[in-house]
Amino acid sequence: MKLKVFRFDKETGESRYDTFEIETSTGMTVLSALFKIQEEFDDSLAFRYSCRGAVCGSCAMLINRIPGLACRIRIEPLLRCEGKIKLRPFSGMEETVSWDPENEVLVEPLPSLPKVKDLIVDMDKFFEFYREVEPTFKPASNPPEKERLMMPDAVNELEKYTNCILCAACVGSCPVSGKDGDFLGPAALAKLYRFHIDPREADDESRLMLANSKRGWWGCEFHANCKAVCPKGVPPIEGIGKARKEIKERGKETSK
Ligand code: SF4
Ligand code: FES
Repeated sequence: MKLKVFRFDKETGESRYDTFEIETSTGMTVLSALFKIQEEFDDSLAFRYSCRGAVCGSCAMLINRIPGLACRIRIEPLLRCEGKIKLRPFSGMEETVSWDPENEVLVEPLPSLPKVKDLIVDMDKFFEFYREVEPTFKPASNPPEKERLMMPDAVNELEKYTNCILCAACVGSCPVSGKDGDFLGPAALAKLYRFHIDPREADDESRLMLANSKRGWWGCEFHANCKAVCPKGVPPIEGIGKARKEIKERGKETSK
């Protein structure tokens, strides 16, 4: 099979696609295939990874035009055209490069984030927006003698959002993030919602109001790509919808 890989050099600004023919083995992932290219054909190929177990979130890239984790996505199902998901158009989808999906896998960097080298993107802005939503626990009271108890329903709702591994696949597939560099994006908003609904936090609206703007909750256009691509099942769009409903009920909706 062949891997068609996006190459980019920030110093010259030049980009191209390189095609590598490799032998695959059963269960081989896209990340393993990239290692094979590095070891056997071109050791200058740059990509990011760490855990190789879908935990660290470092290896998100565009694979056959769908953002996902290279360490989790296997080559064989891709060549059988399995597991395709239908996404609303987003920045990066429109690039004109042809590939033969039955014989080739197309690998590109995540869109919506500045390219650094080959498959590596600059995550600075992603983490700047993440920090902007103050993603740390601010308990409303001093620690109790034993643990803080929560109702099972509250834990279940919270867990949907705590599973985020900050891979930025959702941001890469978000049409709004692609056209508006100021939009906080699905990952940061999901994190903000996670703290807003945490029953151990102050029971006020301070968290909710942090994103009461067009850059935040109100910038979302409900395309739902974020939920479709998330490798951990986090549903940013649901949190955003619920946050908007709450703000409307409080009569504090803003158009700015
Ligand atoms: S919400 Fe999902 S896709 Fe987005 S950063 Fe978190 S784990 Fe990745
Ligand atoms: S290498 Fe850690 S998530 Fe893929």
